[in-house]
Amino acid sequence: MLNMVSHKLDLYALLHGDSSKFTGDCDLVFTNPYAPLPKQLQNKPMLICDFTERKAIAEERCGTTLETVSEWYNGKNSIWSGNVKNINVDLSDLMPDPPGWFPEELVYRLLRVYGKPGFIVWDGFMGRGTVGKVALRMGMKFIGIDKILQRVEMAAGYVEE
Ligand SMILES: C[S@@+](CC[C@H](N)C(=O)[O-])C[C@H]1O[C@@H](n2cnc3c(N)ncnc32)[C@H](O)[C@@H]1O
Repeated sequence: MLNMVSHKLDLYALLHGDSSKFTGDCDLVFTNPYAPLPKQLQNKPMLICDFTERKAIAEERCGTTLETVSEWYNGKNSIWSGNVKNINVDLSDLMPDPPGWFPEELVYRLLRVYGKPGFIVWDGFMGRGTVGKVALRMGMKFIGIDKILQRVEMAAGYVEE
């Protein structure tokens, strides 16, 4: 079951629980290659981040060959791609934000290419909510989910900063 922790009109909803239980819809999915996605989101445009050693799993999920575009996450190669085409966004100058949060600039560059104002962006592995913060700033809507309640509470303060 998912519990609503914070929301603002139809701008964002931050939920606590297992994101595979989500039953709604969205326009763009942020995910990793291995966590189960709800069935209705599996064919949505999708941005995937992970380390190169799990590239094969990500490729299976996307049904396409992914390009490794940058080194930013804990000094390892990471994969960023969509399920339709390979990402062509230069992320090579970005440094990771400890402890494993996405740098805001990384999300910004991806959404500038793959997002659109009014899009509903879904991140089922929300952490502090970096995707939500940047999406809202860019005129998009956000659905964020995390299975750790403290992370959702942290995101509630962060997305509107
Ligand atoms: C590395 S963090 C993501 C950080 C995020 N990209 C950011 O910039 O803030 C991954 C998060 O996914 C959450 N998570 C993992 N599996 C999950 C699941 N099945 N449902 C909901 N949250 C999950 C973890 O609790 C963790 O907070």
